Amino acid sequence: MSAGPSYAEARAAVAARLSPGSLAHCERVAETAADLAGRFGADAEEARLAGLLHDWGRDESAEALLAAAERHGLEVHDVDRAVPYLLHAEVSAAELREAFPALPKAVVDAVACHTFGRVGMTALDEIVYVADTIEPERDFPGVEDLRGMARGCDLEELFVATYARSVSGVIERRRPIHPGTAAVWNWIVTEARP
Ligand SMILES: [Fe+2]
Ligand SMILES: [Fe+2]
Repeated sequence: MSAGPSYAEARAAVAARLSPGSLAHCERVAETAADLAGRFGADAEEARLAGLLHDWGRDESAEALLAAAERHGLEVHDVDRAVPYLLHAEVSAAELREAFPALPKAVVDAVACHTFGRVGMTALDEIVYVADTIEPERDFPGVEDLRGMARGCDLEELFVATYARSVSGVIERRRPIHPGTAAVWNWIVTEARP
C-alpha cells in the first residue's frame, strides 16, 4: 500500500470525531472488510483502512453535509436534499482527501461509493460495501444468507446479492431510489454479472 496514515493514526482520528457507537461500527466494518479481502485475494490492509474510515462524515448534521457537498462541488440530487445523510459517503471521501492527502486513491474511492456503489466498482469497493452491510451487528432479513455466501461464493456473486438486498430494502420501505443506485443496478444487470 502506498504511504498513508497507519491504522492506529486513522483510528485515533476517527475516535476523535465520531460517536463511540459509530467508531465501534467502523471498527467492525474494518475487521469484516479485512476478512473479506483475505478470502477474495484483495489487499487486506487497504480494506481494513477503508472500512475504518468509511463513515468519516456519518455523524455530521444534515446542514453540514449539504454545505460540505456544495463546498466540494459534489452532485446533489433531489433525493439527497430530502435525506442529506445519503451524501455522507461522498462527503467522507472528500474530507478524507483533505485530512490525509497521502491516503491511497483506492481507499478514498471505496469510501466514496459505500452507500450507492459506483459503475465500474473495484474488488476493494465491493468488499467495503459488503462489509458495511454484513458487519456482525447488522440485523435485517437475509443478512445471515449473505454472511453464509461470504464464506462460500465468489466476490461478484456476494456483492450482487448484497446490492440486490439493499435495493429491495429501499423498495420495501417505499423510499425513493437514488439515481446513483439506478445507475449501478443497471450496470450490474447489463454487464453479464451473476
Ligand atoms: Fe455509511
Ligand atoms: Fe457504515
